[in-house]
Amino acid sequence: MGAVLAWRRCAPRTPLSADPREEAVRRRTFAIISHPDAGKTTLTEKFLLYAGAVVEAGAVKARGNRRRAHSDWMAMERERGISITSTVLQIPHAGHVLNLLDTPGHRDFSEDTYRVLAAADAAVMVLDVAKGVESQTRKLFEVCRARRMPVLTFLNKLDHPGRDPLELLDEIEQQIGLRPTPVTWPVGIPGDFRGVLDRRDGRFVRFTRTAGGATAALEQVLDPAAAEAEEGAAWKEAVEGCMLLDEVGATHDLDRFLAGDTSPLFVGSALTNFGVRHLLEALLELAPAPSGRVDASGAVRPLEAPFAGQVFKIQANMDPAHRDRMAFVRVCSGRFERGMTLVHGPTGRPFATKYAASVVADERSTLDEAFPGDVIGLVNAGDVRVGDTLYADDPVAFPPIAAFAPELFATLRPRSVGRHKQFRRGLDALDEEGVVQLLEDPDGLLPPLVGVVGQMQFEVALHRLAHEYGADADLSPAPYTEARLADPPTAAALRAVTGTRVVRRRDGAVVALFESPYWLERLEREHPEWQLTSVAPALAGSA
Ligand code: G4P
Repeated sequence: MGAVLAWRRCAPRTPLSADPREEAVRRRTFAIISHPDAGKTTLTEKFLLYAGAVVEAGAVKARGNRRRAHSDWMAMERERGISITSTVLQIPHAGHVLNLLDTPGHRDFSEDTYRVLAAADAAVMVLDVAKGVESQTRKLFEVCRARRMPVLTFLNKLDHPGRDPLELLDEIEQQIGLRPTPVTWPVGIPGDFRGVLDRRDGRFVRFTRTAGGATAALEQVLDPAAAEAEEGAAWKEAVEGCMLLDEVGATHDLDRFLAGDTSPLFVGSALTNFGVRHLLEALLELAPAPSGRVDASGAVRPLEAPFAGQVFKIQANMDPAHRDRMAFVRVCSGRFERGMTLVHGPTGRPFATKYAASVVADERSTLDEAFPGDVIGLVNAGDVRVGDTLYADDPVAFPPIAAFAPELFATLRPRSVGRHKQFRRGLDALDEEGVVQLLEDPDGLLPPLVGVVGQMQFEVALHRLAHEYGADADLSPAPYTEARLADPPTAAALRAVTGTRVVRRRDGAVVALFESPYWLERLEREHPEWQLTSVAPALAGSA
């Protein structure tokens, strides 16, 4: 039995039509990718402000309390003042519905962060103008690239001293291979930012600060002559910059953007609200609406087909009193209605979506209906796993959501032999949820390893083993840094090689681990016959 809940609806919904195609056209389902501190939280808050979902920025997350203000149901989150889980924010705006999938905002990240991107149709990449492309942005962008997901770029913090925006364009292109095509260009320099030159009509949009950025920035639009008269050298420099962009062909092209080759770039300052409106409007105009998803047979499931959705994230024990397990489902086709009975694809069992009032936690509300692009939370999803399809009427399965290459490894051992059973049960559950990847010794002789993409996943695993399964465990880091899929002959050969280890994943894949990238390189050079393939972040995508 399941129940359905939605996350944090920010304003009353406009009346909906029942046609999934019409509803899909109104939707934009996207995620914000950024390195910590680039301004993702601030930008999210400003989207809410501009969408009219909050009257004053800061109402959603009070300053200084911002990281504690939401979804702190988990004891660890409360203790550490961070948000470990991802939530979904639905923002109705200008006749559209924006579904903002929030990737964890802490300094570390986990496989969940990647999986959330599997449910998005587009991403906004936020860069700090003083820092440019940073490590976490690069990692997350790789996932977007693997799915050829369209990415819009927001160059943030222009109110602050920073680097030359032209130099940053080069950096983006060189470091991540995405060609930025500025739609707006700064007038003034970082730290003395006056406004933007809108390359679409050549006009100057001047911004005026409002106190603390609490309300929308006042904007004044001037034609080029007036801009030159008032801004002088700053305007001329911006015009020259744009001429240079024209010359090198850094101009927005919808097809290339949708193919994931170029990225329309907007400049601004989320803190002072400068440029936020342009970005929000571009999301509605340029980002793709949900389209039919390719199913496991390669056929496109049309939007108007009966309801089907794919689970992209499982969160267990959100409410400790009820030991519930919530499956986050991205709607791929049809209309979801609360109370309908779905079929859980892999088991063929019915899955009821009745509302269960007893598990309502803070900031969750019931969801009555949902359409392609929306995310629904199904409670009591006991047998449901990441990648599973749920459907009504018409059977369908979507391709699995790929596992990611772990980058950190450790051995976990139960502290007490008497708790071994609970420990194994907990470890299996955490593996299924994707909290850690369990990597077993193929012969069962060595203790299993766990692999993660972020340190925090280890801490979450230890915490949950102790608190939910009563199995305190000790962690000893393992020295591996690289993981590759290995075919059987390669795996057999590797078992005799020092500085490597061969393990098996839950899905049966054989994974070879290496102590350093250099060691891996050397072995590959010496043994060109070995078949080692990357555990690439290839994800199930839309048509
Ligand atoms: P994140 O979610 O990407 O981690 O970043 P977040 O929005 O929390 O922003 C990180 C810091 O950068 C915050 O400062 C925030 O106020 C600041 N910031 C965000 N956008 C801008 C901008 O456009 N210009 C400038 N100058 N600063 C910006 P903080 O001191 O860490 O937090 P707080 O005390 O301001 O909340």
